[in-house]
Amino acid sequence: MKLAIDRERLVSEIQALGQISEVEPPVVTRVVFTEADLRARAWVIARCKESKLSVRTDAVGNTFVRWAGSAPSAPAVGTGSHLDAIPNAGKYDGVVGVLGGLEAIRALKAAGFQPKRSIELLIFTSEEPTRFGVGCLGSRMLSGTLTTESAAKLRDSSSNSLDEVRQKAGFEGPLSSVKLAAGHYHAFVELHIEQGPILEREGISVGIVERIAAPASESIFLEGLGGHAGGVLMPDRKDALCAASELILEVERAARSTGAIDTVATVGICDVFPGAVNSIPSKVRLSLDVRDTDLVRRDGVMNEIFLASKRIAEKRSVSIRTEILNADAPAECAPKVIGALVESCRKHKLTYLPMVSRAYHDSLFVSRIAPTAMLFIPCFQGYSHRPDEYAAPEDIEKGVLVLAETLAKLAS
Ligand code: GLV
Ligand code: MN
Ligand code: MN
Repeated sequence: MKLAIDRERLVSEIQALGQISEVEPPVVTRVVFTEADLRARAWVIARCKESKLSVRTDAVGNTFVRWAGSAPSAPAVGTGSHLDAIPNAGKYDGVVGVLGGLEAIRALKAAGFQPKRSIELLIFTSEEPTRFGVGCLGSRMLSGTLTTESAAKLRDSSSNSLDEVRQKAGFEGPLSSVKLAAGHYHAFVELHIEQGPILEREGISVGIVERIAAPASESIFLEGLGGHAGGVLMPDRKDALCAASELILEVERAARSTGAIDTVATVGICDVFPGAVNSIPSKVRLSLDVRDTDLVRRDGVMNEIFLASKRIAEKRSVSIRTEILNADAPAECAPKVIGALVESCRKHKLTYLPMVSRAYHDSLFVSRIAPTAMLFIPCFQGYSHRPDEYAAPEDIEKGVLVLAETLAKLAS
């Protein structure tokens, strides 16, 4: 089989998709179920249909693009990623795995390959947590990690329920139907930009992910006393933002204290109420995101932050309440899929590096129901979740080549 990746077509599709944004390109913002998200999905689905692939969409909008194999009832081989993008993002996160997966299928078709197992390209709904607070919504649901009852309780910041919003976006049917039947996938492999600097720095073509770190996130609500910025004297204040500031530094200290490179913690949101120059902040909401490859260590950091919040609440006479949004276990990737990736790299004489993913991905949840691994390609300076995110066409091409070869092996 002679595989040829149409690099120009793929790069021009990535550029075209980057124009579909809630804000002025080149900045990409595509929050789930917004007009931009729906337009991006429709645009990709049209490309899939041009390639004579069948398309099914589930009740939460996960989209399954299928190339039927000669044994259509055998468990399928899956690939794919997401199209939604956080505010102020770039063109490549998720998109490389979706359009790259489509290009891999097109290359296999053009090479005359006939799969025995069906090959399915997935577009997962809401990998990003922007709207409903929890990341990997679609893959959590199809893997049964998030129950229908918990999903039905999710609301966005305007109190719209997931159930209402997904129906308005045109996704019908009971949420309980999203969970896939056991054994749906024989294997799953996701192509993604690294979102870190290692491959580029070391000059290595691809990363083969062996482990995905365990993510956890919380909302933290602080409440003190508001009042006049001139009138209330310093000894009498219960300033919620001052308490939040101390807590943010404790978050940093707790993450650094493990001494492990894999422990990371971030406060990315700080909402201040009432948010006036001359008013003492009475309420603050913080987001907390903690990750580690080691679950016990991750939970240890979460606990330290919790204890710090108790100390700060007492010292400053404010109340601090935490609400856990998710606390997931890490994933071990499957030797079967890793082996197929390694073989593919060797066949095409491409250098590869076994890696850990510190970012989370839909693969974290697919790994709960199917043998799964991931393939990383370098990205410029490791930049991601910012508009200047970039992956070079030749690196994307190598990733798609390895992906196509791997899908062929797994589907044969
Ligand atoms: C995914 O976008 C992550 O935050 O790891
Ligand atoms: Mn992302
Ligand atoms: Mn991503």
